[in-house]
Amino acid sequence: MTRLTSFQPGMRAAVFGASGGIGAALTELLATDESVAQIYAGARTSAAAVRDKIVPFRFDLTNEASIADAAARVSADGSLDLVIVATGVLHDTALQPEKTWRDISPDAFARAFAINATGPALIAKHFLPLLARDRRAAFAALSARVGSIEDNRLGGWTAYRASKAALHQIIRTCAIELARKNKVALCVALHPGTVDTALSAPFQRGVTPEKLFTPAYSAERLVSVIDGLSPADSGHAFAWDGARIPF
Ligand SMILES: NC(=O)c1ccc[n+]([C@@H]2O[C@H](COP(=O)([O-])OP(=O)(O)OC[C@H]3O[C@@H](n4cnc5c(N)ncnc54)[C@H](OP(=O)(O)O)[C@@H]3O)[C@@H](O)[C@H]2O)c1
Repeated sequence: MTRLTSFQPGMRAAVFGASGGIGAALTELLATDESVAQIYAGARTSAAAVRDKIVPFRFDLTNEASIADAAARVSADGSLDLVIVATGVLHDTALQPEKTWRDISPDAFARAFAINATGPALIAKHFLPLLARDRRAAFAALSARVGSIEDNRLGGWTAYRASKAALHQIIRTCAIELARKNKVALCVALHPGTVDTALSAPFQRGVTPEKLFTPAYSAERLVSVIDGLSPADSGHAFAWDGARIPF
């Protein structure tokens, strides 16, 4: 089946975070797309290729050299048509979403920014130059609606929200520079919906079943959104249903 109809047939894609809930589903979906010839699937720990088209590679968002090495390896094969950054953190041992300003901690902020903002910025630094210059090409980073400042009506989750808001600024800034090199290229942030993954697992209480997406459904929606965007959409954030999210 061909889903990415707006890109050149035989296109080449890279997915960062291929071990994650949504990243694995995106990798699998792209592998079944007839228009996609090759997928570079990046994860922290090496994974075996599950299909011929998939070329696994290792990287760590907190290690710029690992991202530069990946870029050198991928660029040896030619340019890319699509880069999707599907990494992110909401909670781990150093980070628990804050309920109040009393919970704010420098360690949690450092962790959230390193993974959700600086890491994607480093991927942009090393992979935007690999995007094709002479045809449609896209860089998409998974963000979250809660990163929208205008949309924030509930409060809480300060470090996660702030790191995703920073990601939005990075996307806008890179989109401006990218447009100078390729007028039909896209650089966008995407909100995947509430998806049943390890990241959302502790926070799924109260989410109705029809609003809790499977990773496969979210991946299908996100690929369809990317396919339908126009160059004028570059520098903005979009949700799984194609609706624009204010920064
Ligand atoms: N799930 C949701 O409901 C939801 C809602 C809104 C937005 N999002 C966004 O969607 C994106 C994907 O989330 P998900 O639900 O698929 O989460 P997930 O299953 O927890 O996956 C997160 C991914 O990030 C990777 N990662 C974390 N730290 C890394 C590092 N230092 N270096 C390299 N990779 C690293 C993980 O790698 P390891 O496997 O090695 O840990 C994993 O591949 C995130 O940006 C998240 O903020 C998700």
